[in-house]
Amino acid sequence: MGKTHRFGVLGGDGIGPEVCAEGVKALRAAAQRYGFGAEVLEYPFGADHYTRTKELIPESAFAEIASLDGVLLGAIGDPRFEPGFLEFGIVGRLRFDLDLFVNLRPIKLYAEHLCPLKGKTTADLDILVCRENTEDAYRTKPVFEKQGTPDESVTQNLWYTRKGVERIVRFAYARASERRCKLTLVDKANAVRAHDLWRRVFAEVGHEFPGVKQDYAYVDACCMWMVKNPEAFDTIVTTNMFGDIITDLGAVLQGGLGIAAGGNIHPGRVSVFEPIHGSAPSYKGLKKANPLATVLAAGMLLEHVGERAAAQGVEQAVVRLLATGQIRSVGTDSGLATDAIGDMVVRELLS
Ligand code: IPM
Ligand code: MG
Repeated sequence: MGKTHRFGVLGGDGIGPEVCAEGVKALRAAAQRYGFGAEVLEYPFGADHYTRTKELIPESAFAEIASLDGVLLGAIGDPRFEPGFLEFGIVGRLRFDLDLFVNLRPIKLYAEHLCPLKGKTTADLDILVCRENTEDAYRTKPVFEKQGTPDESVTQNLWYTRKGVERIVRFAYARASERRCKLTLVDKANAVRAHDLWRRVFAEVGHEFPGVKQDYAYVDACCMWMVKNPEAFDTIVTTNMFGDIITDLGAVLQGGLGIAAGGNIHPGRVSVFEPIHGSAPSYKGLKKANPLATVLAAGMLLEHVGERAAAQGVEQAVVRLLATGQIRSVGTDSGLATDAIGDMVVRELLS
């Protein structure tokens, strides 16, 4: 048998734990099929755990997580708390303190019938978004003045460092060079002059990748092109906030948030993989949530730890289930229970 990987599983809130359970099934089935070991450590962090203990992620657990090979994360967020409190306390903590500077989000059409765009085939939608994941307005504090008065104002800076921009841009060029050799920088340099740093770094790092064609799109136009001509994009590199926004749009083009997965990555180090969807609290426990996004996130986790064949196996299992119509929709209207879909993935993987 191959190596034994140590995976953390942080189900989180709402539908997070139930979709993660199916992701874990897929990990275990892949381990069995492709001959490696998977040790799974479960962590209880999220709204309920915080309510009981006043802990977000305790230091000892954080240190243990930092020593793992990878983490599967469900979803964090609960309407009982102020927006951002749990998200930044848990997801932000992992992204920032583990220095997971890449948020890798493949926007891929796995089956034609899932795409809401007219006349687009699976060949037309295969975009790899490399979203910067540790800077931008995500890392600065809002400064309110004259709060609560008619003269109130607030600022929250966009913050980019050359090193921060350089490392995500270099990562994206490298990925593009393994794909269709085109990299688009998505920014708003015509209005936000801070993005001039991105432009300069993009051009400079481009010299290291002469085989990769450079392309630019302002984020507003990017949204338009993604809908009109998604086939024009191969790999995209963008800021943290624009990456957040365009990947929700991308998820809809793939068929919905139920199929969109992503990874928070620091190459060579522990990294965190998650469905892009949120915790959907009103669906908690109903077994209606579609776990395919989490299953695909588990596939990305396997790729990250070097189990490439297993990663492809997981993705192909999902593709077959969709292409053959065994799973007709990736929403809550599939008519299939969360665990039934997980079982189908396992059967497909082991067949
Ligand atoms: C995402 C989410 C997060 C983000 C939220 C929950 C802070 O929308 O992972 O896309 O903005 O990064
Ligand atoms: Mg988002």
